[in-house]
Amino acid sequence: MNINYIDFFRVFSQVSKAIHSGENTTEILQHIVRNIKEILGAKGCIYWIVDRDSEKIETMVSDGFPYRSLANVNYSELNHIFNSDEGPLVWIEDARTDRRIPDLDTIGKRSVGSITGMFFDIIGTYGGILAVYFYAYKKLTAEETEILTALGEQGAIALHKAFSYDEKMLQSLRQMVEGFTLALEAKDESTHGHSVRVAQFARAVAEQMGLSGNEVETIHHGGLLHDIGKIGMNDDILKRLGILSRTEMDIVRQHPEIGARIAKPLNFLNDVVPLILHHHERFDGSGYPHGLRGERIPRGARILTLCDAFETMLAGRTHFAKMKFEDSVVNVFNGAGSHFDPDIVDALFAAIEARPDAFDVRVNGAELNCLVNYRRKLKMKMISSHQMFI
Ligand SMILES: [Fe+2]
Ligand SMILES: [Fe+2]
Repeated sequence: MNINYIDFFRVFSQVSKAIHSGENTTEILQHIVRNIKEILGAKGCIYWIVDRDSEKIETMVSDGFPYRSLANVNYSELNHIFNSDEGPLVWIEDARTDRRIPDLDTIGKRSVGSITGMFFDIIGTYGGILAVYFYAYKKLTAEETEILTALGEQGAIALHKAFSYDEKMLQSLRQMVEGFTLALEAKDESTHGHSVRVAQFARAVAEQMGLSGNEVETIHHGGLLHDIGKIGMNDDILKRLGILSRTEMDIVRQHPEIGARIAKPLNFLNDVVPLILHHHERFDGSGYPHGLRGERIPRGARILTLCDAFETMLAGRTHFAKMKFEDSVVNVFNGAGSHFDPDIVDALFAAIEARPDAFDVRVNGAELNCLVNYRRKLKMKMISSHQMFI
């Protein structure tokens, strides 16, 4: 038996054991890249984990690169070097002359000969890219390719297991977010279901705008949690909204900052914090807490501002009657450009127009016609306001 195979079986069984005993994934990957390098007599080996959806390199584990090297490439450079359209295996005969390799001394390509790269599916939009670098010209034999595939596949299995676990964790964290929301809304009859409906509208708007799956999820969580800062507030103040003294009003206006402070220590809510903090900013800069204006307000927060207001108009509060659907549409239309981002108003109208049955709020034919009409008017309004500045 070839010596490579003996080493390979030893490593393979070690990695299998490590996966089953739930060892740290980074250590497993490190073990894999180090051993691939040794078994194949390579100069170095790298395992990248990428999220194809957000086009980001999530993690990179390498061995044999003590200096600035190809391990420094970003997502688009990596995709350019290893393009999965070329098949499951990419072979670069000579990195020194190959046009796929960025022409930078900093990545150390001068001392690299051939490179072989492979792709693995992990879970969802996550994939793995495994690359082996040689000192000189090297084309892998069929046996060596098998070894590389088997070990790379093991890395993918280890990651799959870790990510599935993360998925379960996320599931329970999501339930926690929902629990928070229910606790908040239990305080006040008139806001019952408000956050859930805001989250529903916000998700539809984010999807309508073609945002990534992660962004949609973040915005949905933002919708559920946007008013979480009210949780510690005096019930009596919240129930008398609309007839509050100036001092009481100042207290209520602190809820975005209190909410951001509550969510901040929870790592998985990192992206949601700015949405909670800025959901009362206005597009023209007249909102709070920071008076941010236009695109300086995070996009997710601009979506929440609109959906929050729209839901409140439709549902009403103790201090004002609920509005008819048509009146809410007109109100939102009137606020486009001052209170709300007009592009987001357009996306909300488009989302309701596309799926009028998808929301808790029922929309009948006449109401839908009104919405379509105002969407058209909004487009005209947007065009004429652009023309004013030409
Ligand atoms: Fe709020
Ligand atoms: Fe709200």
